[in-house]
Amino acid sequence: MQKRIIFSVIFSTLIIIIALGLISYISINTSIENSLEKRLELSKIIGRYIDYILEENLKKLYDLSLEKDTLSPGGDFSDEKRALKSIYQYSIFTEGVFLLDPYGNMLVSYPQRRDLRFNILSIPYISRVINEKKPVISDVYSIQPIRKKVIFVLVPIKDLSGNIKAVAGGMLDPTSYIITRILKSIPLEKDTCVEVVDSHGIIISSNRPSRILTSSDHDRFLSSLAIAKKSSIGFCHRCHLEEGHESHRTNDIMAFAPLSVASWGVLLREPQEIVFSPAATMKKRFLILGIISIFATLTLAIGLSRSIVKPVQTLIRATRRIGEGDLSLPVRVNSKDEIGVLAESFDNMRQKLGESLEKIKKQNIELENIVTERTKQLRESQKKISALLKKVISSQEEERRRIARELHDETLQEISAFLMKMDMCRLYPEKINVEKIEEMREILVGIHHGIQAIIQNLRPSVLDDLGLESSIKWLLERNLKDRGINYFINIRGRGSLRLDQQVEITLFRIIQEAITNVARHSHAENVFVLLKKDKDYIYVEIEDDGVGFDVNEVLNSVTPEGRGLGIIGMKERAALFDGLLSICSSPGKGTRISLKFPLKKGH
Ligand SMILES: Nc1ncnc2c1ncn2[C@@H]1O[C@H](COP(=O)(O)OP(=O)(O)O)[C@@H](O)[C@H]1O
Ligand SMILES: [Mg+2]
Repeated sequence: MQKRIIFSVIFSTLIIIIALGLISYISINTSIENSLEKRLELSKIIGRYIDYILEENLKKLYDLSLEKDTLSPGGDFSDEKRALKSIYQYSIFTEGVFLLDPYGNMLVSYPQRRDLRFNILSIPYISRVINEKKPVISDVYSIQPIRKKVIFVLVPIKDLSGNIKAVAGGMLDPTSYIITRILKSIPLEKDTCVEVVDSHGIIISSNRPSRILTSSDHDRFLSSLAIAKKSSIGFCHRCHLEEGHESHRTNDIMAFAPLSVASWGVLLREPQEIVFSPAATMKKRFLILGIISIFATLTLAIGLSRSIVKPVQTLIRATRRIGEGDLSLPVRVNSKDEIGVLAESFDNMRQKLGESLEKIKKQNIELENIVTERTKQLRESQKKISALLKKVISSQEEERRRIARELHDETLQEISAFLMKMDMCRLYPEKINVEKIEEMREILVGIHHGIQAIIQNLRPSVLDDLGLESSIKWLLERNLKDRGINYFINIRGRGSLRLDQQVEITLFRIIQEAITNVARHSHAENVFVLLKKDKDYIYVEIEDDGVGFDVNEVLNSVTPEGRGLGIIGMKERAALFDGLLSICSSPGKGTRISLKFPLKKGH
């Protein structure tokens, strides 16, 4: 993801940079073209200015008024001389002005120049003016034998019919500073060079006076341009001795504009670096801008990718951790954007998941505890049930043994005695008398009582015959009287106490066990029995003032001999009929057994 972000940012930056490059390339090229155009324009302006000066001076020569019809050498030219003097004073013709006849003979000159008189016809420009009948501005011309370098400005002066009447001319010394002054007045860069060259490439004027009358280093090319009157702009090398400097080679921009009046031209030369400096500055700026934007986008790309990818990685790590079951560490992302919100809801989810897991763990522990508790209770009740079963079996056996013993010890003995008496009566019928019969009757009554007692113990007929109230009294009397324990019975409630047979026998057995326990264990002096009945329940309370006992200890530790089973049996019997039996006792404080028994099962 990080790579993809960086790649897309860099890719878009590249596109921007390429577009920027294209724009800069076009701008730089336009700027170069503008610079070149400007140089050419400048050289043209200078050319036009020089043209104007030359035209002005040509006009001055044209304006020379010649009133005489024929001009012949040796005549009086005082008027012309005056006119030439005024031209000389207000023109560029530093070397003088002169007037020739149509054949090239010197008529008059100002100032007087004897050196010209003999050679004037040899000057080709003079014959050109006469032949072509047009004004001529010459190149640099060397006057022999004095080797004076001058420029001739010649105009034909015509009569009314158009024939040449005379030739007016002026001479100008290129070194005279007149044109140079014009060039020097143009504000230019230090290394910029502006020159006026003739059609032979000779420098007529320059803003560097030392170069005047030297040959330009591109003289042939320049002469062809000057003759063809073509302007040009291009590149060239500068390779010459500079004033006070060593020879060196520089790349120049050369702008050439031809003059219209003379076959000269204005040459403007400027080092390439000056011309192109705006373009170079622009290039440099674009380059710096490009580098800065590359750095900025790289930093942006890395920063952006980090700010997006880092929180995502944190989230991934958190999901892995949670997947492995570690919910302890919080998910922390320090941003407030969508990822921050996602991390926050993710952390909420983690917390809730943790809470639910904790709850489930707790519930599991509770459940395990409940299961353990229930298993323990189940084992204990199983134990109690098996003990009860044993007790039932052993009490059955004991009951049988007791009945057998009673039958054997008492009833069988008495029957044997009765049989012996009967045998005696059969052997000695003569000895039978009332006394003997009375004796035998006594034995039979004894047997009868014995059997009756056994039957009473098996199922007390008193319960069937007289009901619960009498049975309780019978139990108290039978069990406590002999032991000297006083008993008090209190019966409350309306109506008779005749109950359902099942209820009656269950209540009888519970009360029988309680009274037996008082007799056997309590060492009490008094026992109080309360019997109360209402519409739905019967309430029984048996309280003694005996030694008492620890109820919990007895219930929780049933002995193999059956100690405790009597009480458990009482509770079980009550529970069978949805009754409730509670025992309240502690050592030294007597015992109270309370029973709330429903009269009908299902209450
Ligand atoms: N009324 C009582 N007074 C004092 N101790 C009693 C009384 N009833 C029961 N106990 C104590 O509770 C024990 C358990 O009684 P029980 O379950 O009936 O078994 P058992 O009578 O066979 O010993 C007795 O051994 C006795 O120590
Ligand atoms: Mg008992």
